[in-house]
Amino acid sequence: MTYSAVEVITAKRDGLVLDDGAIDWVLRAYLDGEVADEQMSALLMAIFFNGLDGRELATWTARMIASGERLDLSGLSRPSVDKHSTGGVGDKVSLILCPLVAACGAAVPQLSGRGLGHTGGTLDKLESIPGWRARLSNAEVLDQLERVGAVICAAGEGLAPVDRRLYALRDVTGTVESIPLIASSIMSKKIAEGTSALVLDVKVGTGAFIKDRDRALTLAATMVALGDAHGVRTRAQLTDMSTPLGVAVGNALEVTESVDVLRGGGPSDVRELTVALARHMLELVGIDDDPAARLDDGSAHAAWRELVAAQGGDPDAPLPRAPLVEPVLAPRAGVVGRVDALGVGLAAWRLGAGRARKEDPVSPSAGVRCLVRPGDVVEAGQPLLELHAEDPDHLASGREVALGAVSVGEGPAPAAGLLYEVVEGRAG
Ligand code: URA
Repeated sequence: MTYSAVEVITAKRDGLVLDDGAIDWVLRAYLDGEVADEQMSALLMAIFFNGLDGRELATWTARMIASGERLDLSGLSRPSVDKHSTGGVGDKVSLILCPLVAACGAAVPQLSGRGLGHTGGTLDKLESIPGWRARLSNAEVLDQLERVGAVICAAGEGLAPVDRRLYALRDVTGTVESIPLIASSIMSKKIAEGTSALVLDVKVGTGAFIKDRDRALTLAATMVALGDAHGVRTRAQLTDMSTPLGVAVGNALEVTESVDVLRGGGPSDVRELTVALARHMLELVGIDDDPAARLDDGSAHAAWRELVAAQGGDPDAPLPRAPLVEPVLAPRAGVVGRVDALGVGLAAWRLGAGRARKEDPVSPSAGVRCLVRPGDVVEAGQPLLELHAEDPDHLASGREVALGAVSVGEGPAPAAGLLYEVVEGRAG
């Protein structure tokens, strides 16, 4: 059967179901340059409006995986399990979770991307550690997983290469927020990475890219079903992202906070979420251990030091500090109503912690420290946030949005909750 790009686009535009051959052809022809960017953009927009049914999505995802290599972790002596977060403000959980779960006996192959927009990227955070390197060969990944039990590194070019092209196109054509396109993009990379089990932290709230709980549940169920279909034991946990996670938002600031949690301290919400995700991960691979105890007895911190050193970093090196630090003060006495994740994320981004385009540099030291939580009682003039920046222009730009990110009123504070629904896979 021969296919043409225009026929595939018009079929999806008119709400028809694409057969396996059409999906196979269009993704392959796109990678080969036979289908042009403008034609793929039109198809993505048609999918944005008309979706993909279960079979189409399964085929689309399988072809994305088959567009590149799939790592084989079956030779490791430890069971492999990874986690993916859909991205949030102050979400430094991977930094803690990977060594923590390694300390409990699993292998965590965390192949990550960089941050874009108001949510930070795990690699950007770790690169604030002097000497730490994000690029590893496949052989180095396997060796480190066996020796240390955890790797956090840049996903190689060879994993689901068609996703790289599609994601760049979606970013500039208004087609990112489509559940089948998000689910296939995330899951193709995670499945290609070779993990045997996966926990998905699906964020909901102002600072998440999905704000609505029902849509987040649909995304979670869609990804869990894709994991199941490819033999990856998958479970999703919906979690709140209306308030930043922890105190620190920004690269080096978040590393410092992560080390606090790895030493058994740190903010209680970061610890609660990390321990909950670690429990899911350990359950999926049948390891009976208590991750909270591994934070308290120093073994998670020891695994962190090994992970950082294995990738060329110095775990004892001082981290970069911003030369400019300025508080945002409470305009009145009262009860803190909200500390808005999106507002704080945008402030951190403007202060220099994030990037607008994927080739932009990030400041290792810029960011925000959130000194209050919803429900706290504050005096007029009390510091609410602390802004960190490398230069006065970034500071002024961040200050503009930071001022609106925290509200102080008469109370009562909104009900807080961090952990929402769990979506279980068939094999979970
Ligand atoms: N992250 C991804 O990797 N892909 C998406 O489509 C959205 C978020």
